[in-house]
Amino acid sequence: MNYGRILLTNNKIEFSQRKIMVLKLRPFVKSDIEILYQSYLEYIQYLKSIGINKSPPSFKAHQEFILKFLDNYKNHPYKKIYILEDDGNFIGNICIKKSNEFGYKILNKFQGQGFGDKMFELFFKKHPKNELWASILPNNIVSQRFLEKHGFELTEYEYHPKNYSK
Ligand SMILES: CC(C)(COP(=O)(O)OP(=O)(O)OC[C@H]1O[C@@H](n2cnc3c(N)ncnc32)[C@H](O)[C@@H]1OP(=O)(O)O)[C@@H](O)C(=O)NCCC(=O)NCCS
Repeated sequence: MNYGRILLTNNKIEFSQRKIMVLKLRPFVKSDIEILYQSYLEYIQYLKSIGINKSPPSFKAHQEFILKFLDNYKNHPYKKIYILEDDGNFIGNICIKKSNEFGYKILNKFQGQGFGDKMFELFFKKHPKNELWASILPNNIVSQRFLEKHGFELTEYEYHPKNYSK
């Protein structure tokens, strides 16, 4: 949805088209599989940039995992997968496991614009904050700050053997 508006800047009158945000947190559907994969690949790249090497799943493995969520929910670790969209455009995703651990991602191009905050606000309306927990890798300072901003605190460290792969 768009609306026009007159801006008065530096004594010049300009006409600007400014978009009204129509943010929605909706359940994931089958046609989101590809964009969710892109989002996950971006996350793997981000981890690499902070010194954590994790190999990405193949698209096929990702697809099977997600389809299992839709087709065999009883035996899947996830409780819900949500998509944050603005006027139909994918902005990010947030999911919660049956254990109440949650994970999230805003697409790189939309980061730093307040979408993460908005996504959390919408998510906490569906899942009360006091039942949730998140697991964040040591170098992921951005996410640690983000969680702290939203009222979470560090409660424990987890130790694994050096070559441990989840
Ligand atoms: C964490 C993440 C969701 C934040 O989304 P975002 O839309 O960029 O965040 P916002 O613009 O809404 O900013 C919210 C807060 O996040 C923190 N934050 C965001 N960018 C930051 C940065 N570059 N450095 C430090 N803190 C940052 C700040 O606390 C910020 O609040 P402030 O602006 O009032 O200081 C996003 O960086 C992301 O997708 N990261 C990769 C995925 C990830 O690490 N997931 C966690 C593991 S499951």
